[in-house]
Parts: sequence; structure tokens; C-alpha cells
Amino acid sequence: MQKEIIFSGVQPTGEIHLGNYLGAISQFVENQEKFHCIYSIVDLHAITVWQDPNIIRSQIYSVLSVFLASGLSSEKNIIFNQSKVSQHSELAWILGCTARIGWLNRMTQFKDKAGKNRENASVGLYTYPILMAADILLYKSTHVPVGEDQKQHLELARDIAHKFNTDYKTEYFVMPEPLFNKSTRVMSLRDGTKKMSKSDESNYSRILMTDSNDEIKLKIKKAKTDSMNMPDDEKNLSDRPEINNLINIYSASMAIEKKEVINHFASKEISFFKNELTDVLIDIIEPIARETIKLLDDKNYLETILIDGANKAQVISNKSISEVYEIIGLRR
Ligand code: TYM
Repeated sequence: MQKEIIFSGVQPTGEIHLGNYLGAISQFVENQEKFHCIYSIVDLHAITVWQDPNIIRSQIYSVLSVFLASGLSSEKNIIFNQSKVSQHSELAWILGCTARIGWLNRMTQFKDKAGKNRENASVGLYTYPILMAADILLYKSTHVPVGEDQKQHLELARDIAHKFNTDYKTEYFVMPEPLFNKSTRVMSLRDGTKKMSKSDESNYSRILMTDSNDEIKLKIKKAKTDSMNMPDDEKNLSDRPEINNLINIYSASMAIEKKEVINHFASKEISFFKNELTDVLIDIIEPIARETIKLLDDKNYLETILIDGANKAQVISNKSISEVYEIIGLRR
């Protein structure tokens, strides 16, 4: 039986944090045995918000290094940066003619990122979910491992695929299914109602996959909590977003049920739980951070991986884009 196809992407807009790892990258690693996997460092998505040309390249290498250090194999998977495969942009144009303005107007991530001054946001930021749909549909991906914050974008990709298939009386595009990790959404360590994000002003809001053990210790120590002890059950956790978040992080990091974590730490002091959590995080991050820093020393090697990945991605995407042109009555 043919293996199913996974596509996912990570933006090179800042250093990779624990949210990216638990929400997405750890799933990439898990799935590499079961699926044909294509993982892209989506640099064209990154420039929807201005990026310094002198920094973006090194950020692409940083993301790639974390991928590899986390255990992603460049032989088993196709790994490349998006701008090397121009078919993504080509398909995005075609799908932009299928997607409806009303659909884009509903995208909450655009509203959050554009903030109050929406008129001044880039057009790219607004049409970004169409490029994301193109990324996914170009490879006829069956599954897309992402954090829960990407759910709406994925539904849009399905809507676009469905409308394209209906408009052109075809079954060409496959409906992609999301794959979410148990942790759902990792929240900021400073505010349990905001997601952990690369763009948060406070360094103490996120744990980076390249943080030293001391930095991890300090960030967890400083993580906002309340003055009560650990909860005995899940009932009132929604009133304690910061503790809820730390419990979710523990549960996702150990790959155990949240209930088990709650039972284990029931009524204990928060400082005791924080120490245990620190140890768990150090166990995961220390080897990844060490390997990432080593890999970043050899840019030629990293570039070879990206070129090789792009060549493989182009073989698939070139065929797809020609077929799509054919369906819509044009010829390449
Ligand atoms: P990006 O670069 O913001 O994040 C990369 C991945 O990390 C997940 N993630 C989180 N998961 C849990 N908790 C968090 N706090 C957290 N922050 C980020 C994201 O859900 C994502 O899976 N639009 C995408 C990139 C993209 C893409 C695609 C993804 C472009 N094309 C095609 C899948 C398929 C994004 O901005 O991810």
C-alpha cells in the first residue's frame, strides 16, 4: 500500500521555541517512519512581515538545524526552504482565484497579527493562508501536523480544495487532514491566555530549543503562577491558565495524560512541580540545543540539504503544477 503524504512548514521568523517543538516538530519526527514527509522552512510566509535580509538566511539555517537536531532525517524526508521551489507561488496565484474574499476576512490570525492598524498590514499577510493552502495541496498531502493555532488555515485549505474540485469538475486535490498533538496550544509563560510565540517582546515568555540549562531553569522559575498549591482535579483549571499551561507542557513533554500529571502532583507546592518540570524540559532540550549549535557551524552542509530537498520537491511540484494548468485549460 502506498504511504500517505505529510506536508508541514515552519516560518524562519525567529528562534524555534517549545511551542513549535511540542505542537509541530516532535510530530514531524514521530511521523517520519509512517508517512512520506515533506517539511518546508517557509521563508515566503516569513516575509509577510518585514524581515531583515541580512538575518533571514541565518534563520533558515537555524530552523533546519533544529529539525535535524530533533531527529528529522534528511534522507527519509524531503526538507527544503520554500523560496527554492517556485511552484508554491504559482499555485498560490491560481488558488487565489478560487478562494473567496469572505473566507479570508474570517481568518482570526490575520486579525491578531494586523492588530488595530489593519489598513497598513501587507497584502501578503492577508493572502498568506492561500499560500499555505498551495504548500499543502501541491503535494496532494493527506495529513498536516500542526499546532492547534493553524486549525482555521487548514480548514480554509480544505474549502479551497473543495471549491476548486467542484468548479473544475475534478477530484484532483486531496482533502488534507490535520494532525494535532495532545498539548494543543503551548501558552506564554508570562500570560497563560496568550500563545507562546516567536514575536512576543519578553524572552521570559518562551523557552527556546537552544536555551542553556540555566536559562530553562530561570524561565520556569520566573513563569507566572498563582499562590495556590497544585490542583487535585481538572475542574477549576480554566480559572488558572498559567498552571494549566505548565501542566499541559509537562503532559506533552512526557507524552502522558494530563490526568496522570494532576494526580501525581495533587496538592504539592508549585515550586516542587516547577523543579520537576525543569528537569523534564532539560532532558528534552539539552541534547537538541547541543546538536543545533554544532550543526550551525557547517553552513555548507546545511545548504546541501536544502538544495537536495528542493530538487526532490521540484520533481513532485512541477508535475502537479502542469496538471493543474491542464485542468484549468491553460498549458505551461
Ligand atoms: P509557525 O512558523 O508560526 O509555527 C510552526 C509550527 O509550530 C506550531 N506552533 C505552536 N504549537 C503549539 N503551541 C504554540 N504556542 C505554537 N506556536 C507555533 C504551529 O501551529 C506550526 O505547526 N502557517 C504556519 C506555517 C506554514 C504551514 C504551511 C504549516 C506555512 N505553510 C503548510 C503547515 C502546512 C505557521 O505560521 O507556523
